[in-house]
Formats: sequence, C-alpha cells, structure tokens
Amino acid sequence: MKFNLQHKDQTTKARAGSILTDHGEIQTPIFMPVGTAGSVKAVHQRELTYDVKAQIILGNTYHLYLRPALEVLEVAGGLHKFMGWSGPILTDSGGYQVFSLADSRKITEEGVMFQSHIDGSRHHFSPESVMDIQRSIGADIIMAFDECTPYPCDWSYAKTSLELTQRWLRRCKTRFESTGGRYGYQQSLFPIVQGSTYKDLRQDAARFVADQDMDGNAIGGLSVGEPAGLMYEMTDLVTDLLPEEKPRYLMGVGTPANILEGIALGIDMFDCVMPTRNARNGMLFTSEGIINIRNEKWKMDFSPIDTGFPSHVSSFYTRAYLRHLTISKEMLAAQIASIHNLSFYLWLVGQARAHILQGDFASWKNTMVEKVSRRL
Ligand code: GUN
Repeated sequence: MKFNLQHKDQTTKARAGSILTDHGEIQTPIFMPVGTAGSVKAVHQRELTYDVKAQIILGNTYHLYLRPALEVLEVAGGLHKFMGWSGPILTDSGGYQVFSLADSRKITEEGVMFQSHIDGSRHHFSPESVMDIQRSIGADIIMAFDECTPYPCDWSYAKTSLELTQRWLRRCKTRFESTGGRYGYQQSLFPIVQGSTYKDLRQDAARFVADQDMDGNAIGGLSVGEPAGLMYEMTDLVTDLLPEEKPRYLMGVGTPANILEGIALGIDMFDCVMPTRNARNGMLFTSEGIINIRNEKWKMDFSPIDTGFPSHVSSFYTRAYLRHLTISKEMLAAQIASIHNLSFYLWLVGQARAHILQGDFASWKNTMVEKVSRRL
C-alpha cells in the first residue's frame, strides 16, 4: 500500500491524498460504507460502485468469522471474490464487536473468550488468531486487535487497558510480519490509538503507535458517548503525533459534521453505520440538513429527496413517495434511503477534498457544518 499526500490545507490540518492498494486507488479524505457481514445492508455491489461511488468498504472480522466462517471464505478465495466486490476492503479486528455484541466475554492477557451472539457457541480471539483470520478474509487493510475502552472510564482502567492494547499490538505485528497474504496481493496492518479521554494516555498511545512504523494508523475509543468537543480534542492531540506521511483513520465516526471536523483535524479515513442504520429508520442526511422521512410534513412533498448533489436515486424519488414506502414498511424504502445517505456521505467527503485542493476548505467547512446539522 502506498499513501501519496497531495496537498495540505493552509489554515486547518486537512489533507488531500490517495491510497494505492492492490485493489485500486482511494482518494482521501474518504468515507467507507460499512459492510459488516459481507454486504452493505440494502445496497447492491453494483449500486455501491455506480450510485454511491464507494472507493473502499469495511467488513467485520467478528461477524465473518462466525458466519459464513473461514472455511467458506478460504474456498471462495477471500472476501472480495465471495461478495463480488473488486475494490479495496478494510476489516475491523473484532476488538470492538466482541465487546459490544458478544453475549459474554472475558479478557485475559492471552485474548478474549466470548460467546457468539448468534448461537451462544464459545470462541477465543487472540492477537495472533485475529491476524490469521484477517489473512483468511483477505482485506487490503486489516486492523490490530485492541480493547475499545467504554466511556466514561477512570484513568487507571484506561491505562491498564491501553497497556494491554499495546502488548497485543506487538503480538499482532509479530504475527502479521511472519505471515503473508494468502491470495497474491498485499495487506497492510493499521495499529489503533486508544487511551480513552485522557491526554497523557492518548499522547503515549499515539507515540507508541507511530513508533511501530506501519502503513497507516487508526484512532479508536472515540464516538463512544463522550461529548463531541472531547472527541475533537483527543483527535487533535493524536494527529499532531501521528506521522504526516501515513493515512489516519478515525474509527466509527460519525455524523456529517463530525466527519468535516475530523477532516479539519487531519483525518483521512472514516467509517460509521450511521448513514445505513439511520436510513433504515427513516433518517436522511441531505445537503440542506437532516430529515425524518416518517414526518407528516413530507406527506404531500413531491420534491426530490435531495437535489443538492448529483445522485440518480436522490433526485429521482420524491420525499412523499419515500415517506409512503417507509411507513408501509416496504423493502424499497431501506434501499432508497441507504443509497441516498451513502451517496451523500461520499459526495460530502469528495467536496471536502475538492475544497482542500482549491484552498478554501476552512470557510466551506464552517458553512457546511452549519447546513448539514440543521433539522428540516
Ligand atoms: N470501531 C470504532 N471504534 C473502535 C475501536 O476503538 N476499536 C476497534 N477495533 N474498532 C472500532
């Protein structure tokens, strides 16, 4: 993987760049649609490419390991072939899902023992097994095994947890470096900065991660219930310490406004379930603000969902029609809303990139944060 830093903004820490993987190029800043179990919910691979214009998607080790399981993915020749997606893929390590989804879990130095949320079966993840699993899944970018600390979390828990994440990172790196990609292309391992909301821990974590000298770096443990101001403060501290010449990924973030602020703080990559999950509940992100499509207000509104950016789905279907589909629990509602929200997110990061290159990112960002946060 190669990262090419093309332009740095003069007034903020925003950057425009490109990541070259063996499955194609990603222009940054970028948003990665979440395809947890080998599908971006309600969106076809063809729509991801041509409507959403996704450049990279995300998969989850925890889900894919439990179902369909590695024996299936290995015979398929990896996740790209299994799901029919030939672009880049990133997999999260399970270090987050195991804590948020598994029925019960026990952390030890060795790893995490957990019970599947699907059938209650018992499993064990270790830094080594998670590297091996991600080699079998075959994503272009794989993540280190970490503990995502909950919020709030006291300093001594955060420190003990961070030290465990750091020891696990060493083990991940050793395993990663002693194995190779199974399917003939390169994989990159990204370490994750933890440290909760404590400045000293975040700084220590960022220096430790930077010292590993991997292809890219991630920031985790944020957007877990803390105020947005704290999330920005931690991100700002950490991006000052992570190397400039490597991509930076802020995990699990966020709203359109969070993403724009993250870009201004020097983040290049984002993922979040929000555009797809909220779409299924009738929440639409538009270039003019946020819409609850179930609202009576849209009953007779025959204007398009959003004409603020070029998207076939968003300008073809009316708000009244999408409201009707949503209230009637038609499957098409989830499809249209998901494609719309993802197209909007991808358009937004594309605009951010264009304004960074053009030199007016800061003023554009401030206007846009205000606009996209409004409730219509
Ligand atoms: N997704 C969102 N936050 C995190 C995190 O802290 N760790 C991991 N592995 N995934 C995440």
